Amino acid sequence: MKCRICGSKAIISLRRHNTSFCHVHFNEFFLKQVEKAIKKYSMFSRDEEILVCVSGGKDSLALWDALNKLNYKTKGFYIHLGIEDYSEESLEKVETFAEKNHLPFIVKRLGTGKTIPELSKKSGRKKCSVCGIVKRYFFNKIPYEENIDVVATGHNMDDEASRLLGNILKWDLTRLSKHEPVLKAEGMMLKRKVKPLMRLTDYEIATYALANGIDYIQRECPMSKGATSIYYKNVLNRLEEKSPGTKQYFYHQFLKNIHIFQDVATRADQIKRCNICGMESFSEICSYCRLMEKISEG
Ligand code: FES
Ligand code: ZN
Ligand code: ZN
Repeated sequence: MKCRICGSKAIISLRRHNTSFCHVHFNEFFLKQVEKAIKKYSMFSRDEEILVCVSGGKDSLALWDALNKLNYKTKGFYIHLGIEDYSEESLEKVETFAEKNHLPFIVKRLGTGKTIPELSKKSGRKKCSVCGIVKRYFFNKIPYEENIDVVATGHNMDDEASRLLGNILKWDLTRLSKHEPVLKAEGMMLKRKVKPLMRLTDYEIATYALANGIDYIQRECPMSKGATSIYYKNVLNRLEEKSPGTKQYFYHQFLKNIHIFQDVATRADQIKRCNICGMESFSEICSYCRLMEKISEG
């Protein structure tokens, strides 16, 4: 297998593009895809500081690496979720990466009694759903407190396509209307959220991370076993195997037509301030404070 550009040994073959690349040209391709997403969706400029939400996994660290290589101004943000030794190990990966690249980062530790396993146990809710509430809350709160206007996450094409499939299967119009790779800032506190890896797949990102010596946590979160998103990813991968490019077509064609859903789904509620914590929210009490209330009742 040879690189289509220079003819030297290829490290990856991309069936959906019907091409192969060596290390140098794959890096070039990868960074170009990231830059293309940033420009096409006007995600951010080089004057803005970007808070990169990092989990220690391949996607978020590869994203941080790519933005750094593309000369964007970044700060990492890690939430220590208190998940067994998984959280410690992933924090180590983030620290190592930040030190190696001389990049600043913030760590938010959930207080005692507020870790994901504890919150799940006390509230009776699934771990992944509790985790989603906590993450969304701090992905809003920390950038507001730090005065950073852009929040970037490592969601990739596989994540977005599988979420899309899930939302289509339920015909969840509100969620479908919020599928864009950029969610604009709302109110005074909720900052712009962007997904610069939306043009790249799990496989491409893992290859990039390995080829560039990014040491990431390879095992999945122990709480994610049996998650439907993993099942949907597998289904899409089977379709992709039969017909390369299906996943990209499915997701990108949807984005071209997303306005249809935006017209249908109306956001009935106005932005409000949470009565308890004061953060902006779409209900009188935000989901995080509702969760906290629930566990203190229990
Ligand atoms: Fe959220 Fe595993 S990272 S439950
Ligand atoms: Zn090459
Ligand atoms: Zn609140």
